[in-house]
Amino acid sequence: MEPYAGVREQYLRFADEASEDSPCFVEWGEGVAADPEVLAWVDELPGLKKQPNLVFAAARWHGVPAPGPYAGLRSALLSDDGTIRTTILERSTQTNEVGRLATLLPAFGLAVPAGPVALLEVGASAGLNLFPDRWGYRWTTADGDVALGPEPRLGCAVTGPAPLPRALPEVAWRGGIDLHPLDVTDGDAMAWLETLVWPEQDARRARLAHAVEVARADPPRLVTCDLLDALPALVAEAGGHGTVVVFHSAVAAYLPLPDRERMLELMRGLVADGCHWVSNEAPGIFPAVTATGPPSTPRRFELALDGRVVAHTHGHGHDLRWW
Ligand SMILES: C[S@@+](CC[C@H](N)C(=O)[O-])C[C@H]1O[C@@H](n2cnc3c(N)ncnc32)[C@H](O)[C@@H]1O
Repeated sequence: MEPYAGVREQYLRFADEASEDSPCFVEWGEGVAADPEVLAWVDELPGLKKQPNLVFAAARWHGVPAPGPYAGLRSALLSDDGTIRTTILERSTQTNEVGRLATLLPAFGLAVPAGPVALLEVGASAGLNLFPDRWGYRWTTADGDVALGPEPRLGCAVTGPAPLPRALPEVAWRGGIDLHPLDVTDGDAMAWLETLVWPEQDARRARLAHAVEVARADPPRLVTCDLLDALPALVAEAGGHGTVVVFHSAVAAYLPLPDRERMLELMRGLVADGCHWVSNEAPGIFPAVTATGPPSTPRRFELALDGRVVAHTHGHGHDLRWW
């Protein structure tokens, strides 16, 4: 096989993923993919650490300008004295994107149309998505805008018969699980979250700043654990407060395949026992879930309720296609 073919493919895929949102990351992704020396540098990193999003964020953390030319990234990586590499090894892509709430809320509303809901997020990062009741929403549909709640509102372009909620959820309990939760009162951790936002996305940066303020006003309960170990006990605890909705977004891809299978079985068991499950993951992460929906949409997540695909969603929440 061609040297570094796997890494090259990964960076080309990332360039494609960024094509709607970040010209800089398209240039960087394609730049790395065409650059044998940088491919070799990236290939020295262990497994998940080769991720473009992580490598690019670490380079920016140490001063590589973005937006900026690929030459800046190249020179920083190839002359790295171990500083960038250490950041890559010590940190991870814990991107916490509240824009996703605009796509998750219709599924929450379908799961629990009225009454108290107990929200449990697995892979919660800093837990910023645990406050869907503290945001407003503006869904743009073919029939006009549907607004809900106060400003600032999370915007989302909607197609298809999405059940857009008419009221904010009544969140009676909220909690999260993460292998390495980020503390919203820790300035360094929040600065890293900001570095994970793609270069041209000023609106996302502003949204993140507001999300951190919202969470700092009422820091969420986050349990440090593997989701597979902590989930059953926390579902039991949450169940004392309302109908439980377990949700996750951009998390299951980080699990090795056998753990994804265990997660699927665990969630199916919890759903059979009466809790709801909202999953927002890339197509194919849970093949049995993917098989319940229409063919996947390029560069979109699959939103599933209780194991059945209901929509395709933009990874940062810009749009929602309900099926
Ligand atoms: C890309 S972030 C997504 C954060 C958040 N769900 C969102 O949508 O904004 C993925 C998170 O999953 C966490 N994670 C990965 N594997 C996990 C596991 N086995 N158990 C708990 N958390 C995990 C990571 O630590 C990271 O914070």
